[in-house]
Parts: sequence; C-alpha cells; structure tokens
Amino acid sequence: MRCKRGSEFSVFRTPGLLAAGEVPTWFNSMLGGRTTLVVTTPTVHRLYGTQLVSALQHVGARVDVLVLECRETEKTLEQVERVCSRACDLGLRRDDIVVALGGGVCSDIVTVAASLIRRSVSHVRVPTTLVGQVDAGVGIKGAVNFGHKKSFLGVFHPPTAVAIDSVALATLPAPAIRDGIAEILKIALVHDASLFAGLEAFAPQLVAQRFQSETGDELIEQAIVAMLEELETNAYEHQTYRRLVDLGHTFGPRLEEAQGFGVTHGTTVAVDIALSTAIGVELGLLRPNDQRRILDVIRACGLPVWSQALTLALCHRAIVDAERHRGGALNLIVPCGIGSACVVPDAGSVAGVLHHALRRARAATVERMELATA
Ligand SMILES: NC(=O)c1ccc[n+]([C@@H]2O[C@H](COP(=O)([O-])OP(=O)(O)OC[C@H]3O[C@@H](n4cnc5c(N)ncnc54)[C@H](O)[C@@H]3O)[C@@H](O)[C@H]2O)c1
Ligand SMILES: [Zn+2]
Repeated sequence: MRCKRGSEFSVFRTPGLLAAGEVPTWFNSMLGGRTTLVVTTPTVHRLYGTQLVSALQHVGARVDVLVLECRETEKTLEQVERVCSRACDLGLRRDDIVVALGGGVCSDIVTVAASLIRRSVSHVRVPTTLVGQVDAGVGIKGAVNFGHKKSFLGVFHPPTAVAIDSVALATLPAPAIRDGIAEILKIALVHDASLFAGLEAFAPQLVAQRFQSETGDELIEQAIVAMLEELETNAYEHQTYRRLVDLGHTFGPRLEEAQGFGVTHGTTVAVDIALSTAIGVELGLLRPNDQRRILDVIRACGLPVWSQALTLALCHRAIVDAERHRGGALNLIVPCGIGSACVVPDAGSVAGVLHHALRRARAATVERMELATA
C-alpha cells in the first residue's frame, strides 16, 4: 500500500478579535455552525475568553469552554485526558473543532488531544503569548512532558488555522515577552539576518512596549514567515533529522528537566543559544565578533546567557539524548554567521570542545559583571 497525506493550513492576522470580538471572515467557513470546544487557561479566559466566544457565537458555533491550568508542570497526559473527557461529554463529532486559546502549553495539550479524539479532529489555535505566536502555535507539532522528560510524548497534527492578534501581548508579563524573543532570535540566527538586525536595533523597546507598535507587528510577521519557510521543507521531520530550528533546543530541554520545569522554556533556549554560539567559535565556525553581537542581543532582551545548572555532565547527557532523538547523530545546530547556521553531525567533535565552550560561555557572564562594576 502506498498513501500520501499533505497538510496545509493558514496563519491569519486577526486584529480586533481579542480586543473587541471582531469576527474574521474565515471564521464562518471554518467554524460556523459547528460545536467548538475552547480550551484555555484561567488568566487568558478572564482576559480574552468573552471576546473569542462572542466571535464564535456570531458565526453560529455552539461553544463550550474548558478552563485548564496550563503551567509547564501541568503539560501532562492527564490534562490531555481532561480535554478528551470534555469532548466525549459534549458528544463532539468528527467534523467539530477544538480551539486552543492560550500559550504554548495550552496549544501543546490541545494539539495532542485533537490528534486523539476520534483518531483526529480539527483544531484552531489562537496563541496569546509571543512564544505561541511565533513558534508553538504556528508549527505542526504538539507534545506533553512524560515523567521527568520534556515533551517526550507528542504528535504531528497540523492546525486547520491559526489566528494571530498581537493585542494579546499587551497583557503578557515582561518575562513571557523575553521568552518569545528567544524563539525569534533562534529563527533569526538560522534564517533571517534582517530579523536579527531588528532585534539588535529594538530589543529593549520591544520588551517595554510588549510589541504594541508597527515595528513589533512587522517583526512578528517576519518571524512567522521565517518559521513557516523553515518548517515547510521538512515539516514531518521524516526527510532528515537535521533541522536548523533545533538551534537552542539541545541543552535547553535538559536544563528545564534539571530544574523541575521551574524555569521558562525561553530562558533555557537563550542559554542554549549562548552555549551553541560558544561551541561555534571553538570549532572555528563562527567569528568571535558575531558571538559578541549574539550575546549582546540576548542581554539586551534581559535574557540569560548562562545558567549554573549548565554543567559538563548535563551537557553530555543532553548530547546522548539528542542523538537518540535525531536518529543516532547529534546534529547540533550552531550559528556560523548572522542569519546562517551549520549542522555539526557528530558528537565527538562537540564533546572535544565542550569544556572550552562552557568556559567561554561562562566568561561572557563574568565579562558582563566586570563591565557593570567598572
Ligand atoms: N509544539 C511546539 O512546536 C512548541 C514550540 C515552542 C514551544 N513549545 C512549548 O510551549 C511552552 C511554552 O509556551 P509559552 O511560553 O507560551 O508559555 P505558557 O503556555 O506556559 O504561558 C505562560 C503563561 O502566560 C499566561 N498567558 C498566556 N497568554 C497571556 C496573555 N495574553 N496575557 C497574560 N497572561 C497570559 C498563561 O496563562 C501562562 O500562565 C513550552 O512547554 C514549550 O515546550 C512548543
Ligand atoms: Zn522552543
């Protein structure tokens, strides 16, 4: 037997949806007249639930809302089961829809649940965090943590549509904005030098203004386009395990686990990028001046470049785990310029420079402290 399944989905800008319940034109065809299970978190429900529900009701959707705790420690199969239970109680049909209204944790839980309910129902994502809007919400994957393992159980299950309303970012705490910038930095470094230049020029204002500006909107759009272009080449990850978007996601997940998921995803992405950058310099792939520019942007956003939990032992464990995840090769992504990245396939060459790279990465914090006290 031979069968193929393509995937296609649209990411729409929907200004006005979350502020005033304005109805995007595509709501009618995709959601009109259907039973719609909206999954959201307590905070997001309080801030934006009414507006979304009113827009859905406007197109004749029968709406039910499930409010779940969606913290990282709750990104579990139990939460997925709660969504499935509610869908079962509601009598959700195959042609009905689940909607994720929230951050990356919410969309991960909903993506996994939607892939399981009646073997798969459609879902729409309305990401309300920056991480959600530029990364978690616009990809095709969803996963939950399992035991102490970060995102160990997951699926490839594309959404039917994604609605982006940057007004939601106005209520995000600054650390959550910084988390999103870490993912924007990742995609900028591997794909788009002009996006990096945008961060370099505006990072502190973007954090202070929560992206509520024309520049903020433009950079979000640029980041989404870059992300989609990068994913499109190998969305199901079946062609190769070499993925440039894995920059920042080799040591970071182990850092999250080591700290009991008590740190945010974005901060570990930033620390991982700083280390991968140092590895790039040690391997002679990146110029020290580019390392300086990258670290300056990370710091300008108020993100960390170092973590005390980043030990040599943790890095070795991360390498072993990454090899298992990437078909037996490490495939570490390191920046080799601004806007371009290289794949380092074998663990041996990374292990050989790891000690020096860790020292180089840690020295960056010390340099900073010296500058601050000078
Ligand atoms: N599936 C993927 O491809 C993918 C990609 C990147 C990240 N992720 C996952 O995403 C998760 C991180 O997502 P996140 O950074 O969005 O964090 P999050 O989902 O934990 O949300 C952070 C907090 O912000 C609150 N919040 C959300 N929107 C808000 C708003 N507009 N105003 C005020 N508060 C708001 C939420 O209630 C939550 O408490 C991680 O688990 C990560 O693994 C998945
Ligand atoms: Zn990430």
